[in-house]
Amino acid sequence: MEDNKCCCSTQKNDFYKLDAILEKYQGKESDLIPILQNIQDSFGYLPQDIIEMLCSRTGMHPSQVMGVITFYSQFRLKPVGEKLIKICFGTACHVNGAETIAEALMDELGIDIGGTTDDGRFTLEAVACLGCCSLAPVMMIGEDTYGRLTPDMARKIIKSFYADRGEYVGKQ
Ligand code: FES
Repeated sequence: MEDNKCCCSTQKNDFYKLDAILEKYQGKESDLIPILQNIQDSFGYLPQDIIEMLCSRTGMHPSQVMGVITFYSQFRLKPVGEKLIKICFGTACHVNGAETIAEALMDELGIDIGGTTDDGRFTLEAVACLGCCSLAPVMMIGEDTYGRLTPDMARKIIKSFYADRGEYVGKQ
């Protein structure tokens, strides 16, 4: 019976959330970016049905909304994993080996930048300066910052997350 559970109430709640956001900005086209940021904060990404509802509620054209979403790298069309890993590619991190850190993480997790692991635990994202350049190269996992990284350290950090749950399945 669980499989046949109606999703209407979930959808209704999602639409209420959207309405609250639109009310705050009065659905103005000039506020499209903050509206999208609010939707993403609220849902963790930009769900397709919410974008469609945004267009029908405000009269904005879907191609215009999608144009903005795809132009800015901050917007995500897919759900993120349990933990978001932000790898810094700002200047200080770049000259201190951000690329090698990213390669180690991609290899360890088996995903590319922008991807999410099959188990839904991690999403990898490239960002500009995280504001702690003296620690370069830097990454953040959730709210935690990891600095002066080496590729080996980055791998160990990922392993420790899986080891915490006693379910490490990454590279040996
Ligand atoms: S450049 Fe990476 S933290 Fe500033």
